[in-house]
Amino acid sequence: MMTQDELKQKVARAALPYVKDVGIIGVGTGSTIRYFIDALADFKADIEGAVSSSESSSEQLRKIGIPVLDLNAVGTLDVYVDGADEINPLKELIKGGGAALTREKIIAAASKKFVCIADGSKCVDVLGAFPLPIEVIPMARSYVARELVKLGGQPIWRENCVTDNHNHILDVHNLNIMEPIKLEQAINNITGVVCVGIFAMRPADVVLVSKGDEIVTF
Ligand code: 5RP
Repeated sequence: MMTQDELKQKVARAALPYVKDVGIIGVGTGSTIRYFIDALADFKADIEGAVSSSESSSEQLRKIGIPVLDLNAVGTLDVYVDGADEINPLKELIKGGGAALTREKIIAAASKKFVCIADGSKCVDVLGAFPLPIEVIPMARSYVARELVKLGGQPIWRENCVTDNHNHILDVHNLNIMEPIKLEQAINNITGVVCVGIFAMRPADVVLVSKGDEIVTF
């Protein structure tokens, strides 16, 4: 049986055809994406540059010789490849386990095609078993937490975590997210929230999932 790491590596390689002949790509963050960037190393001649969702992915990209570009300088991206913490059948996601959700959501919004890659353990019927990450302005942390309790969640401050944007993360437990778009909008409306890790208004366009020997695409 394949380990979770082997499954991540396998699905990362399966995303390569989606970036063939695409000059500038969007690249996400996380352990699955680390394997994807490793796989890009053999491909790099085809890749002009990348817009990256985190300092850690940027560093790995530069190491293999792929220039990291500013999103403002490149406009709309054709393809964005990133992982997820949970994926439902509508390709709506929870993201932010790696604290990079804000930049991830910006790149997803600015991309024509969002290709999400994950091992099979990330597929769920209903989002919310994975604690929902929310990036907040530091001084608003307690206020936002109280508002999240009113929405039925149990927010826990991810201590010792400062995002690349110098903000804090609350992880919200015990949510059963039956209406992802509605909850995404409601949390976006709380003053002090920078970004919520529900990707439903802009879901993935293609999901690749490794299950045993198979890659399932939907
Ligand atoms: C980072 C993310 C990642 O995509 C998510 O946490 C999945 O990570 P991994 O590939 O390590 O399982 O949203 O903010």
